[in-house]
Amino acid sequence: MASTTFRVFRYQPDSGDLESYHQDFNLDHEEKTTVLDALLRIQNEQDGTLAVRYSCRSAICGSCACKVNGKTVLACMTQVEEAKAESGSSTLQVDPIGNFAPIKDLVVDMTPFWDKFKAVKPFLIPDGPAPDKERLVPKAAMEKVAKESACILCAACYSECNSLAADPEFVGPAAFAWGYRFAADERDSQRKNRAKLYSGQHGIWDCTRCMFCNERCPKGVDPRDAIEKLGAIAFQEKVTKDKGARHAKAFLISMRTGGKLNEQLVGGFTDPVGGAFNAPLALRMLQKGKLPASPLTHKVKNRDQVTKLIKNVKETI
Ligand code: SF4
Ligand code: FES
Repeated sequence: MASTTFRVFRYQPDSGDLESYHQDFNLDHEEKTTVLDALLRIQNEQDGTLAVRYSCRSAICGSCACKVNGKTVLACMTQVEEAKAESGSSTLQVDPIGNFAPIKDLVVDMTPFWDKFKAVKPFLIPDGPAPDKERLVPKAAMEKVAKESACILCAACYSECNSLAADPEFVGPAAFAWGYRFAADERDSQRKNRAKLYSGQHGIWDCTRCMFCNERCPKGVDPRDAIEKLGAIAFQEKVTKDKGARHAKAFLISMRTGGKLNEQLVGGFTDPVGGAFNAPLALRMLQKGKLPASPLTHKVKNRDQVTKLIKNVKETI
């Protein structure tokens, strides 16, 4: 047997108390107990008002995501003793997922998540008349979207997303993983339109690349990678008007022409007004020796190695 203190986030606006707080529950339990099992025992044995969302208890439905000691996890997939060993503490703090408004205790309002999910059109839009039976696809083509197809919409990635913390309108990693899943599907006819839709305001180019979504996804979907692949699709479809896309393009041009990053070129290309003619910035760059006399003189030795690398990367996308 083991013993654990669960420090659980409480918020019960129905009772008239609009302040949130943490409440400690001590529980004796088997060594092999998940956080969800422990929370349900607390609910059954100690406080029936504790609100927890769950369904399958098997890491399939995606309902039970919460934060355990600050990290978003599926409660039904997280062993209490392992979480304690990782944190080096006999107390586990359990909080609702981040970037959402709590409704009651660990239950949050998922409306923005579902709205954004719907906005990316997470369904196949094929062209032409429907076939008699089905639209067959070679296995290799479906393998391209296998990772993204594994998403269970648990919102762990959304909870950890730094772009969302800064901009609540950002579409978010899960929705983009679904966007890629259909944009890259051979049967879909909307590749270019999807590239335009996903490249707009609050879109793929606003991702800060913090990689926490990849790190915390319990299903190995790697949504940041999906966002990157959507960026490649946007380039292939020549949807490059967004400042973020121009910035990425400027990096590529800079690497191709000089073999290294040329801030002058990148700034001017990304933002022709603010970037190239920002006099105070230009002066500071000049003082730090970051402004070459001409963008074209900014070259490294063995530039052909960089060119080869760019070619290899392009072939793998
Ligand atoms: Fe959950 Fe991963 Fe899907 Fe995000 S991408 S909703 S973390 S399964
Ligand atoms: Fe379904 Fe945890 S209860 S994923």
